[in-house]
Order: sequence, then structure tokens, then C-alpha cells
Amino acid sequence: MDTKYFIANWKSHKSTQEAREFMWAFARLLPQLDLSDKKIIICPPYPSLTVCTEFVRANDLPIALGTQNISAFPAGAYTGEINGEQIKEFATYVVIGHSERKRYFHETPEDIRQKVDQAKVSGLIPILCVQNEDDTVVDGVGIIAFEPPSAIGSGKPDSPEDIEKVFGALHEKYPSSQLLYGGSINEENIKNFLAVKHLKGFLIGGASLDPQQFYQLMSVC
Ligand code: PGA
Repeated sequence: MDTKYFIANWKSHKSTQEAREFMWAFARLLPQLDLSDKKIIICPPYPSLTVCTEFVRANDLPIALGTQNISAFPAGAYTGEINGEQIKEFATYVVIGHSERKRYFHETPEDIRQKVDQAKVSGLIPILCVQNEDDTVVDGVGIIAFEPPSAIGSGKPDSPEDIEKVFGALHEKYPSSQLLYGGSINEENIKNFLAVKHLKGFLIGGASLDPQQFYQLMSVC
């Protein structure tokens, strides 16, 4: 069975109360989904991570948790950073190198390499974002998300042809990595991408914030 990832990237959205309300509402919709070929990963902001993880554990839900970032350093005197060991208590996955981190926080390829290392040391699974087929991919990264910046939050997803071209190049270089697409995916357009060769799922921003919308886009796949 060809399992597809549906990764919710909430970015800097939702209070803990809003996160709790999302989980309640989404959990009620889950039984209507065929999950035999779907892997759901929710990446809330750090303050809501405990709320979501505890909800998932208490209700034994088929949802994995991830974070949107990780410290490039282990535990230590790094004010404001959340390290891999701390994340591991609550999450399994970590998104690394999102273009918004590069754009607003000036993350460099070296930062990203260190973050991937830290994720691996802590036993977390990195989801590495790339903006094009030439972006650096650290050795041994199992999940790569292609996220063209022009498609992120713009309502203008990349074309399936373009994605297939980039995936073709990525697959040649990293044949064992799973390839995901992210950028303006919603319940209306998601079907257009399902036939893209090598596509193993989606990283979803805006359309993952509403439980009904997030459920809806999975229900048409
Ligand atoms: P978007 O964001 O779905 O809101 O375009 C995707 C992402 O940045 O992960």
C-alpha cells in the first residue's frame, strides 16, 4: 500500500485552547477517514505540543506529532532554544530548514546540517525542506519536502509538471528518500497532485489550521 503523509504545519498559530479545540474536533472526524494509506503528523507550535501529545496519547489516536524547528545544539547554555531531547518527550518528527526559517531567521546550510544531526542524535525523524532540487540535502535524510517559496501561503501552488520535474531530480540524487510537496495545498486542489511521480505526501500550512478543512483534504485522497 502506498502510504501518504499529511503533515500539518501550524506555524506560529493557535493558543493552547485553540489547539485543544482543534484536537477535539479533528478526533471526531477521524473515524470517517480511511487511514490504511495515510500517515497524519501534526506540528503545533511548542506551547501547544504538550496539549496535543497528551490528547493523542489519552485517546490513543493514530496521529504523530512533530515540531517545526529544533535547536542546532544539545542541552546547555543556549537561551531560548528547545533541544532534541526535550522535543523527544513529546514528538517523533521535526521539520527542519523551512524557507520561512531561512528567510526570517537566516538559517544557513550549516545550521541545517547541525539541526539534522541533533535530530538524529535524539532519535527524531527529520523532515527536511528544500526550495529546489539544488538545495543541500544532508546525508541520510529520509523525508524531503519540496516547498517552492512562491507557492507558500500564496494560493498559487506549483504545477504538477514542475513538481514532477523537481522530484525526478531529487529522486535521482536521493533514491531512498520520501518526497513531499508543500505550498498552497487545499481540499480543492490536492487531487491534482496525487498522480505526481514519487509523491509521498504533503506539507500543509494554511489548510491544516481548520480541523474540517484538514479532514476534508484527506478525505478526497
Ligand atoms: P501553505 O504552507 O500550505 O500555507 O502554503 C505550506 C508550508 O509552508 O508548509
